[in-house]
Amino acid sequence: MDAKPAHDSEAVLVRWMSIVDANSAGFVHGGIVMKLCDEAAGIAAVKHSRRRVVTAAIDRMTFLDPVHVGQLLTFKAKVNAVWRTSMEVGVRVEAETPLTGEIRHTSTAYLTMVVLDDRGEPTAAPPLLAESPDEQRRMREAEVRRRNRLAEREEIRAARDRAGEL
Ligand SMILES: CC(C)(COP(=O)(O)OP(=O)(O)OC[C@H]1O[C@@H](n2cnc3c(N)ncnc32)[C@H](O)[C@@H]1OP(=O)(O)O)[C@@H](O)C(=O)NCCC(=O)NCCS
Repeated sequence: MDAKPAHDSEAVLVRWMSIVDANSAGFVHGGIVMKLCDEAAGIAAVKHSRRRVVTAAIDRMTFLDPVHVGQLLTFKAKVNAVWRTSMEVGVRVEAETPLTGEIRHTSTAYLTMVVLDDRGEPTAAPPLLAESPDEQRRMREAEVRRRNRLAEREEIRAARDRAGEL
């Protein structure tokens, strides 16, 4: 299978936040931001694989600043790294205040998406070409996150084994 450039997977989703997106404190609900991150990541993963994908995990989600009703949210998603059937997609969220043009970085998320075949089984994803220095850095950092995730899973499994909890 031919490798595909990371930049071909870029996906941008823009949404205006309205009153129905608010929580009881009057800010935009974090779940709304997570859902749109998931959508943007799904689009990037489909663009890379040209197949159906599912979200296996949301590995990390930061909320750096509250988002306000009336702001315009932009979700920029791109594939960071590809393994066998799974890939990490990074999503950067920016909030723009339309009346002033001020733009703030409000969230970053990393999601693991898995490519599915026609039977709904995980299938190989095309390898990724990380061409720019930024793409190469993101690929290295995605490998660190995967190593940490797998090490954490193993450590928890071993601890449960020791405690006879499996
Ligand atoms: C994701 C899913 C397809 C994995 O199925 P599975 O039977 O565990 O398949 P495999 O063991 O072959 O794993 C497939 C890939 O998923 C990855 N994976 C599985 N569980 C994972 C998890 N919790 N976190 C991160 N990656 C995971 C594996 O590492 C593997 O990646 P690789 O092939 O690149 O090494 C399956 O768990 C699933 O369908 N989950 C539900 C997804 C869904 O509905 N999402 C929307 C939620 S509403």
